[in-house]
Amino acid sequence: MGSNLPINRRTLLAGFAASTLVLTTRTPLAAETLPKMVVTKDPNCGCCTGWVKHVQAAGFDVEVVESSEINRLKTRLGVPEALASCHTAEIGGYVVEGHVPPAAIKRLLAEKPAGKGLAVPGMPVGSPGMEVEGMEPDTYEVVLFGPSWQRTYARYTGDREA
Ligand code: CU
Ligand code: CU
Repeated sequence: MGSNLPINRRTLLAGFAASTLVLTTRTPLAAETLPKMVVTKDPNCGCCTGWVKHVQAAGFDVEVVESSEINRLKTRLGVPEALASCHTAEIGGYVVEGHVPPAAIKRLLAEKPAGKGLAVPGMPVGSPGMEVEGMEPDTYEVVLFGPSWQRTYARYTGDREA
């Protein structure tokens, strides 16, 4: 990842990271390789916050926007109704809908497939942010979607690829 950046930009980013001590000690690779993520969530929803903690732990730089009009955003971004979940994230020109595992997002950003983004529809038990004590994690699909098509991008059981 990041290998397609021009040399001068990479050098600039490396210099920036080195001068930003807090950022480099907490997330060593994020500043250089991962674009910023903006997550829009309903202020009353807690599982979204759980998911944000997972993506932050995976090195993503996340800005959280609280909005009670989140369905309007989903429509504007082209999230198919059948794939809708709670929070909606925007990163690197893609949409990430619901409890998508951070590793699948990193793969998306590295592979840059055609499509609008990834979604984990519903709220599978055991997906990142949806852990329920004493319950077995579900096996669920991470869906890559376009304007008029959807395909399975990955399968996970809990936070592990199945
Ligand atoms: Cu949720
Ligand atoms: Cu939520």
